[in-house]
Amino acid sequence: MDMNTSATVTELFVYPVKSTRGIGCPKVRITATGFEWDRQWMLIDARGMFLSQRTHPKMARIVPEITDGALRLHADSLPPLLLPFTDAGERIAVRVHQDPCVGVDQGTVAAQWVSEALGEALRLVRVPLHPERLASAKYAGPSPAPMGFADGFPILVCNQEHRFIVAEQLRLFRSGARANPTMMPMATGLSDQDIADIAVYYEAQTPLGLEADPSYWQAGEKLYRGGDRSRAIPACMACHGPTGRGNEPAKFPALRGQQSAYVVKQLNDYASGTRATGPNGIMQTIAKRLSADDIRNLASYLQGIR
Ligand code: HEC
Repeated sequence: MDMNTSATVTELFVYPVKSTRGIGCPKVRITATGFEWDRQWMLIDARGMFLSQRTHPKMARIVPEITDGALRLHADSLPPLLLPFTDAGERIAVRVHQDPCVGVDQGTVAAQWVSEALGEALRLVRVPLHPERLASAKYAGPSPAPMGFADGFPILVCNQEHRFIVAEQLRLFRSGARANPTMMPMATGLSDQDIADIAVYYEAQTPLGLEADPSYWQAGEKLYRGGDRSRAIPACMACHGPTGRGNEPAKFPALRGQQSAYVVKQLNDYASGTRATGPNGIMQTIAKRLSADDIRNLASYLQGIR
């Protein structure tokens, strides 16, 4: 790591209920498991698996609030739920991504409230008083770093510019400038606050992309890194960066770890004009020059880079 790198913290957020709306704070207390109140509760399905905005975008509409001695949850259509803090309750086996851990069931009233808010049978659990789940020693070092229901680490840092890119695309979906039958209806109901929240949420995720398909990715890498002069295809790397991390100031999005089906669709949409976003039609021009095999190869390569 470059020890001369410095950064300024511009905003602080805690997410009391994993994947629901965050709370911006002027300052936060740091506890043994990260920021105070951060990722202390989460919603689980019948199998004990955690829920996230990736599969349940409506979660962005659940607004938690920490009041004296209680968690209060708000949602558009429901009376608020008041849940006094307690470590009493059935200990149940739950999962955050690959990690099995323990959650303290918050009871039937809470379960009914969250089920109604999202329209399916769910329960709400809280982190036990002394969580046994630890951050990976490979990164956190030898002294144990206990965690609540955070994805992988007690504290996450995200940079501001990437957040703006996500927010900008959501605004384009909302206005209809970027047409997509799945995203448009989802984005239509979002307020500016929702968009800001979702952008923060995505930026804080660790990309868990799939692996690259070895039969295609090598050709994809060649095109990504070198382009193809004979067909006037520029190197994707020139804008999206050598490791697909994008270029923040220039607003070139990150592509690493992106699911291949998504990349294939975007490139086809650019080529056909269905997706007309971006400056000067850059991607539309490039995508028109790509063959179906190029697109498959590039998508396979991008899926594998981190
Ligand atoms: C001159 C700069 C430039 C080059 C070269 C370039 N891109 Fe892009 N790319 C962009 C910009 C800008 C956007 C965002 C456009 C928008 O807002 O839709 C973008 C968007 C994308 C997206 C959509 C990302 C998303 O999250 O929806 C994909 C996929 C993509 N580019 C793939 C490629 C591939 C593959 C190549 C090489 C064949 C390439 N790009 C070359 C500038 C570039």
